Amino acid sequence: MPIISPSVLACDFANIQSEVERINSSNADWFHIDIMDGVFVPNISFGFPVMKAIAKHAQKPLDVHLMIVNPDQYITDCKNAGAEWVTVHYEACTHLHRTIQLIKSEGMKAGVALNPHTPISVLEEIIEDLDLVLIMSVNPGFGGQKFIGSAVDKVAKLKKLIDLKGAKTLIEVDGGVNNETGADLIKAGADALVAGSFVFKSNDVNIPIDQLKGL
Ligand code: DX5
Ligand code: ZN
Repeated sequence: MPIISPSVLACDFANIQSEVERINSSNADWFHIDIMDGVFVPNISFGFPVMKAIAKHAQKPLDVHLMIVNPDQYITDCKNAGAEWVTVHYEACTHLHRTIQLIKSEGMKAGVALNPHTPISVLEEIIEDLDLVLIMSVNPGFGGQKFIGSAVDKVAKLKKLIDLKGAKTLIEVDGGVNNETGADLIKAGADALVAGSFVFKSNDVNIPIDQLKGL
């Protein structure tokens, strides 16, 4: 069954505690936390005080997606704010290997996100060090965008690379995920699906979450 990571970017921020509780009592597995800096992406979301507030109520691991430049500077803040998984963007890291080791040295699981234009081949020499690869199926920065179909082939390519190297890396996909695109991604080899609007825009979050899980 796929791991489902609802993106709180799409939740009602005026009622964060009850939004977190809607997910606590569902079959979802993680909380996806989108941190944006207005530099790496053309939008600003929220920072560590809000992440801490979410962590205070969350009963499932925090899956943190850093859409920021200089992520090394904020890895300890992620740890202190309750992150279990930290994913940085390939395009934002000059010394990716160092950044991954830094995340792991803080006792967290390390992931790398790829923008839609970035090929899988850039991960060939580092895949065995990664706990997770996040394939972006939209250009990062905003929720509610249209799914970019080429992400499905990218998942299949990444799956091949992981199998070839005998790595244990999880494949996660983020952007425009719903019941239809989600099913295609799972078929192609995705292990984890992020969903923002599809989950939080529903009155009953259990319906989209269970659909994505194939229940
Ligand atoms: C986009 C974020 C996503 C976003 C997904 O930059 O990384 O996690 O919240 O939202 P939906 O599922 O609405 O595309
Ligand atoms: Zn995200």
